[in-house]
Amino acid sequence: MKVTLRILRYDPETDKRPYYEKYTVEAEPNDQVLDLLNKVKWHEDGRLSYRRSCGHGICGSDAMRINGVNRLACKVLVKEVGTKITIEPILGLAVIKDLVVDMEPFFEQYRSVMPYLVNDEPPPIGERLQSPEERARFDDTTKCILCAACTTACPSFWASGQYVGPAAIVQAHRFIYDSRDRAAVERLEVLNNRMGVWRCHDIFNCTDACPRDIEVTKAIGEIRISIATGKVD
Ligand code: SF4
Ligand code: FES
Repeated sequence: MKVTLRILRYDPETDKRPYYEKYTVEAEPNDQVLDLLNKVKWHEDGRLSYRRSCGHGICGSDAMRINGVNRLACKVLVKEVGTKITIEPILGLAVIKDLVVDMEPFFEQYRSVMPYLVNDEPPPIGERLQSPEERARFDDTTKCILCAACTTACPSFWASGQYVGPAAIVQAHRFIYDSRDRAAVERLEVLNNRMGVWRCHDIFNCTDACPRDIEVTKAIGEIRISIATGKVD
């Protein structure tokens, strides 16, 4: 079948404003949208820019708006989106070129929540053990691949790039509820402000956008409860 791609192009160094460019490519129903972008880049227009690496929903590098919805290009099949596909960069981050956005503000928010295990207690001989129940407490948020689909689908983030955003909150959740970690209080302090968890209005765009099916809004709610009660359990 023939598929028409309408791709939002923009090179800030040479273009006055973004514009759509159309390409028609041969495709199979089970082709990924990423396959079609590769066809364009490799055979029609080598100037087209986008990020990708694993091709299998693991690296998180190819989040983009596909027919108006944040998705990973490698996880969307042609048969799911039809023969006319509009592809645009994710919103709220500056475009570097075409579908490539500046991820640095996103990673700055990520770093602000201390996304690593903090425990200065002398380690036991062997490992810092935890029970299966303790491990299960934060299992959902371990699945995050930092694709930014959630944060850049969030109207609160569009309104203010200062908002820490759902992805950083998910990363904070992954450590706050880890029984081996000792920095929950500091992370809750980081998130307990106007640009932290209280900026979320429970719109659920983040949960809908997440390619890993993480219950993002639920994680945000749990952190709010911990801030309000002072309990991390
Ligand atoms: Fe991507 Fe989901 Fe992680 Fe957000 S929570 S960055 S959508 S994997
Ligand atoms: Fe790695 Fe899509 S290319 S997640």
